[in-house]
Amino acid sequence: MSTDGLVALDLAVAAAAAAAWLGVGVAAAAGRTRTVPVLFAAALLVTFVRIGTVVTLAGSGWWFVQEKVTLALPLLVATALAAVVIAGPRLGAPRSPAAVVSLLTTGYAAVAGLVATFLIGYPAGLGDALVIVAFVGAAAFVTWWLLAQDATGQGGGGGSGGGGRRLRWGGAATATLGLAGVGLALVPPGDAPHAGGHGAPGTPVTALRGPAAPDPGGTVRRYTLTAGKTTVALAAGRRIAAWTFNGRLPGPPLTATQGDLVEVTLRNADVERGVTLHWHGYDVPSGEDGVPGLTQDAVAPGGQFVYRFRAAQIGTYWYHTHEASSVGVRMGLYGSLVVTPRAPRTTRPAGLDLTLSVHTFGGTTVFGDPARPEPPRRVAAGTPVRLRLINTDSTPRRLALAGTPYRLIAVDGADLNRPDRLTNVAMSLPAGGRYDLAFDMPAGPVTLSAGADGARALRLLPGDAAAPARRAAAVPRTGDWPLLDLTRYGKPAATPFGARDRFDRRFTLVLDRGIALSGGLPRYAQTVNGRAFPRVPADLVGRGDLVLMTVVNRGFGVHPWHLHGHHVLVLSKNGRAPTGSPLWLDTFDVRPGDVWRVAFRADNPGVWMNHCHNLGHAAQGMASHLAYEGVTTPFRGGHGG
Ligand code: C2O
Ligand code: CU
Repeated sequence: MSTDGLVALDLAVAAAAAAAWLGVGVAAAAGRTRTVPVLFAAALLVTFVRIGTVVTLAGSGWWFVQEKVTLALPLLVATALAAVVIAGPRLGAPRSPAAVVSLLTTGYAAVAGLVATFLIGYPAGLGDALVIVAFVGAAAFVTWWLLAQDATGQGGGGGSGGGGRRLRWGGAATATLGLAGVGLALVPPGDAPHAGGHGAPGTPVTALRGPAAPDPGGTVRRYTLTAGKTTVALAAGRRIAAWTFNGRLPGPPLTATQGDLVEVTLRNADVERGVTLHWHGYDVPSGEDGVPGLTQDAVAPGGQFVYRFRAAQIGTYWYHTHEASSVGVRMGLYGSLVVTPRAPRTTRPAGLDLTLSVHTFGGTTVFGDPARPEPPRRVAAGTPVRLRLINTDSTPRRLALAGTPYRLIAVDGADLNRPDRLTNVAMSLPAGGRYDLAFDMPAGPVTLSAGADGARALRLLPGDAAAPARRAAAVPRTGDWPLLDLTRYGKPAATPFGARDRFDRRFTLVLDRGIALSGGLPRYAQTVNGRAFPRVPADLVGRGDLVLMTVVNRGFGVHPWHLHGHHVLVLSKNGRAPTGSPLWLDTFDVRPGDVWRVAFRADNPGVWMNHCHNLGHAAQGMASHLAYEGVTTPFRGGHGG
């Protein structure tokens, strides 16, 4: 069974255990002496099954079961054993208070275990355990009190006699445990490393800037991007508010030839929240990375910032604002960055090279410009076609190319090794990721559709480019096509390091939801190792280190993981090494139950964001820093937008 299936099964069993124990407690309280033994046996059985599901799930990794093994199960088993001892001999006795309290308390313990999984998750510490135990204790005492009240008729309450004293002590102990737990759970870790503190000795990130000149033979590519607010008319007729660069959606395409110097002046006309430019997937010097509060201050209306970097990597990339990016990118502050090789590596004719971002505007998915959807194009049969596809949304995008075999030749800008031909196979493009597809134009129409319904499609029609395009035929159905498994695609090739190397640093990011302090308040946040940004301790590396990063998804959402400034090599996904082409990615979808192990060489000193590219998740805390020793930031450091 897959890990996410096991997680769901274990939750169902945990819920069944809670229901069974609460049920037998209620039945005992109601004096149903006939059903009580049956329910009791059922509750014990489900408890055993729960132990089994947790043990099985543990096989997927400690991260999936830590709070269950250290907290939920011991609590459940201890209270169940107590119920066997206390309630067992009294099952036949109608309404025995001792039996009712112990049975219901086991139910509370089972509920508390579920609460711990949903609200605390990984890692659950001593403070969390105290809160949970206090919760169970409090519920047990309230139950006791209510039963005592019942027994003494309408009068008095729990204030008199031995029961009353016990109750007061119990209440005080419970409150103390609870308060101690809340305190422990909320105290920040004393020694959490943070990305270069203020005033620490070292290199400020502001000194890590790009060069002033291109490589020999290269040129300077100068662009000015001005962010501003506007409204655009969708092709469907509706007008929506948008934030644009130079009034365009997407922003102007930036292109360069390898070795050029890219120089982009960012201006902000009237976007009050501020803007920056981040070069997604482009491993620029850290000071050019465009992360507000970490590598620069956001550019306020009227301000500007000049970015410079050498076009060293070839391939398909994109740029976007990183200030309040969950809003800014959605509103339109993004565009493509394509770098082509200096010397064409093939003698093939250029053909058609099309860069298209897929984005959702006002509920409508579009390739490229929402006001002017790509019209059907005429492409002469035999023309080499390259489609560079960028997912600028926050969720994975299913893409299907119908009408021709094709190859997926590059992922996240990096060429794949000997990619196979694909026919009737769809692809899932992670949020922020890029796929380059290549094929020769066939004699029939080619359709690229986004989404199983094929609602939004790009059409290429064979024939003379000058002839007017016929009305497009119906979009082919591709909804039942299998999805490409990237980890089995293409052929293996040598890599500069691999799973068997000795790693200088290892760190693990466990992604989940839970209660965490965010913006000074406890919230139901998107968490990394149980914490919400900026309270997630930075991971420290030294220059030249070989770093192993493990990313685990304990939750129920997809998390497109994105490390700035580096491409990572996939070592394994769910314990299986890729059997196809090496995968050098900057964004990978960590699906529920997934465990990804990736490696990178720490060869780009700086302070870097390492975050979920579902930008709403990032805004809710699912982000952390990768910091090089000796690099400091003069900015607040606590904001990654
Ligand atoms: Cu494309 Cu930090 O993001
Ligand atoms: Cu996420």
